[in-house]
Amino acid sequence: MQPALDTLGRPLANLRISVTDRCNLRCAYCMPEEEYRWLPKEHLLRFEELARLARVFAGLGVRKVRLTGGEPLLRHDLHELVRLLAAIPELEDIALTTNGLLLAEQAEALASAGLQRITVSLDTLRADVFERLTRRSGLERVLAGIEVATRLWPGRVKLDMVVMRGTNEGETLALLDFARERGLELRFIEYMDVGGATRWSPEAVVSRAELLAQVESRHGSIEPLAEHSSAPAERFRLRDGTVFGIIASTTAPFCSRCDRARLTADGMWYLCLYARLGLDLRELVRGGASDAAIAERLRAAWTRRADRGAEQRLEELARGPLVGLDALRRDPHLEMHTRGG
Ligand code: GTP
Ligand code: 5AD
Ligand code: SF4
Repeated sequence: MQPALDTLGRPLANLRISVTDRCNLRCAYCMPEEEYRWLPKEHLLRFEELARLARVFAGLGVRKVRLTGGEPLLRHDLHELVRLLAAIPELEDIALTTNGLLLAEQAEALASAGLQRITVSLDTLRADVFERLTRRSGLERVLAGIEVATRLWPGRVKLDMVVMRGTNEGETLALLDFARERGLELRFIEYMDVGGATRWSPEAVVSRAELLAQVESRHGSIEPLAEHSSAPAERFRLRDGTVFGIIASTTAPFCSRCDRARLTADGMWYLCLYARLGLDLRELVRGGASDAAIAERLRAAWTRRADRGAEQRLEELARGPLVGLDALRRDPHLEMHTRGG
């Protein structure tokens, strides 16, 4: 079958599946509120339903699947889903993004089920900052999870650090050292004004330019790695060979290369992180649609796709949080934690 291309010629190659909207942390950049409206349990797609959709997506050109949340390891027996996905021959890459709290105990099962790569969010190495930033404790458990992962997926573990002014911006070099000593690839992520980031302000963003200046001041010249990839991270090399990345979605978006779409745990399909509207695949799956009928709907939607959400945000003059609290309460699908970080 011909791979699907959108109106800007971008293929559909990358699917992020959020397996739950729940999380066991309350990170300031993602879930700063006291209360949330959760997706109804009975709406969550079962593993067989998710794997069936992944098979249909694979038929349209998807080669990479990343499991996200919320916190994906809160979904019971997640390794069973990994096993079903690993049996889909077209999928070349099955990865997971986690906050690491439950990783130490689940890593073994995930690896033997066929999980190929893992990204752990790590925004600080200081217990006091961790507690302030996430409103929970558990830094030690996260670090233990990273240690186990490093053993199980050598060379295939990444660390994601969202850098926020006034919170953890002073720790960028410490995190780079931590990653370097363990052979892990650290990515600095610009704080984004996505749905749910209700405390976002332009002043709190530490930009790609600033991050590069910080690293340069310690490590000297940095070599950009020329790559033609659709991945959001730009990669750089230090003189000692250490590679790190920057994801500059806020100041230098990568929409023109974006080949990804996201599926929420209740089966809504979004063609952009910033999209207001999605396609209800649960209705199709549970309404008895055939694989071919679902594939046609997906193809038709992708072929019409013109989204370039992050670039459009850049054009906004008075930029503030993307979605107000009232709208988030009405529709939790607008939340980053529902769409999969
Ligand atoms: P690989 O490059 O395949 O390792 O994965 P990844 O970098 O896509 O995955 P990860 O979950 O680590 O994503 C890193 C961060 O990039 C996310 O947490 C977001 O901050 C940002 N990001 C991910 N997807 C999108 C997207 O679709 N649009 C934009 N603008 N930013 C995204
Ligand atoms: N800005 C940037 N990244 C975010 N994430 C969630 N919210 C934001 C935001 N406002 C991403 C981070 C985190 C992952 C779970 O989701 O990378 O590590
Ligand atoms: Fe893709 Fe939208 Fe993210 Fe841009 S903002 S990279 S179009 S998902």
